[in-house]
Amino acid sequence: MRKRTIFLKLGGSLITDKTETETARPRILGRLAAEIRVAIDENSDLQLVLGHGSGSFGHVAAARHGTRHGVHGRQQWLGFSEVSSAAARLNQLVVEAMHGAGVPIMSVRPSAIVQCEDGTITHIAPHAIKNALAAGLVPLVMGDVAFDQMRGGTIVSTEEVMTALAHHIRPDTLILAGETDGVYDSDGRVIPTLTLANLPRYRTALGGSRGTDVTGGMLSKVNSMLALSQALDSLPIRIISGLNEGVLTAVLATDTPLIGTLLTANT
Ligand code: IPE
Repeated sequence: MRKRTIFLKLGGSLITDKTETETARPRILGRLAAEIRVAIDENSDLQLVLGHGSGSFGHVAAARHGTRHGVHGRQQWLGFSEVSSAAARLNQLVVEAMHGAGVPIMSVRPSAIVQCEDGTITHIAPHAIKNALAAGLVPLVMGDVAFDQMRGGTIVSTEEVMTALAHHIRPDTLILAGETDGVYDSDGRVIPTLTLANLPRYRTALGGSRGTDVTGGMLSKVNSMLALSQALDSLPIRIISGLNEGVLTAVLATDTPLIGTLLTANT
């Protein structure tokens, strides 16, 4: 049977309270895990690569130490280690929620498999993730610290890790689950489809993010997702709300309903 490969990111804003340092949202996380379990049970062709953002865990520590912009000297490396620990604490909570719901989760830390140069991932070792998929496991990545040949150290977002991975494991779809129903226009309506062609029309509506975010707000995420879509033959990328019950299970099913915002490079 041909597998449908879906990359799914649970955004930091969805699984943590971005306004309170290191505060997870366990009830939401538990429900999302249960929805993923249902999707796996109901769709035998589904091959899932899961990722999660860092929200009020890694972002707060990363902003305090300026980690994204580079790491030099003892103090900053101590900060790098602190960000790494904060990201790992949330990762463990995600692992436990998934495991508790019966999802065969297998965490693979991006810091151990990526190499960066001036803030960009130039190399990723996909073997552990490929092997996990072959074994029927659900590999889990995340936004993490990373070593950088120019900056010493930096931060990579989940999207950046998934983008690098997509060149080795080709996804059919990428789903970004956040706390908004999709990408909003300036009147607060969900934009059904965003393409390279219609993006300029919405540019001013896409700015800012709540809380501390060292890897950019919605506009930079939309821009990098459209670039990824373009690099991968107009890969469909869907932005959905993980707060609405049942949406995650629905978008992981074969006949995906039209929910949220679909981003694709194609017009
Ligand atoms: C950020 O990752 C990683 C760290 C700050 C350590 P993401 O960019 O994927 O996280 P969210 O979704 O914005 O929280």
